[in-house]
Amino acid sequence: MSRLFAKWYDFFMNPLEKKKFKRIRKELISKASGNVLELGSGTGINFPLYEAAEKVTAIEPSQHMIARSLSKLKKSFVPIEMVQASAEELPFAANTFDTVVATLVFCTIPNPEKAILEMKRVCKSEGKILLFEHVKMENRFLSTLQDWLTPVWKKICDGCCLNRDTINLLKVHDITILKMQKYYSDLFIFVESVNKKKV
Ligand SMILES: C[S@@+](CC[C@H](N)C(=O)[O-])C[C@H]1O[C@@H](n2cnc3c(N)ncnc32)[C@H](O)[C@@H]1O
Repeated sequence: MSRLFAKWYDFFMNPLEKKKFKRIRKELISKASGNVLELGSGTGINFPLYEAAEKVTAIEPSQHMIARSLSKLKKSFVPIEMVQASAEELPFAANTFDTVVATLVFCTIPNPEKAILEMKRVCKSEGKILLFEHVKMENRFLSTLQDWLTPVWKKICDGCCLNRDTINLLKVHDITILKMQKYYSDLFIFVESVNKKKV
């Protein structure tokens, strides 16, 4: 993430956050328990919302985003450790975490397939995977529009892809969806799911 994007991110997101996202984040993060990993924590918007977690490890590759998130650390109710890392290469042992959280991240990760495999590896079997993401829409016209817009959108929004088929990625990687809520038609999804590991 560029310094400029990191600087203006909260400002541009604020109307959506106030209108809808804050409530969605609150509900999602309230379900994060035990030893928690957050992927791509950005400006740390979720940090003050953790209450049931014992400890949160937040990974974020961008030093500009990390710098912006430091003030939110002070507002958290649980211990949070920041680690500069990418979701595709997580510096943690297998089966470390009880819960993995990702909000508005899978759209931006350059190799989402690799990130899913890493997320599964470090999450315990039957561990919780909690996601709030924008995804490829079901309507053919709208999903084609997402395909068309993605090259431009990616340039404006620092690598964000409008057409990521994250729901399908979860399904093909044995992540069992327990609950899914859709917002703005099916552009945004809230997913509560479980990591199934082959024995
Ligand atoms: C749209 S922002 C979302 C930030 C925050 N999670 C939120 O809910 O507002 C996307 C974030 O993903 C991070 N990101 C980009 N590539 C990543 C990767 N390979 N692994 C983990 N995070 C990544 C970006 O640096 C950025 O902070």
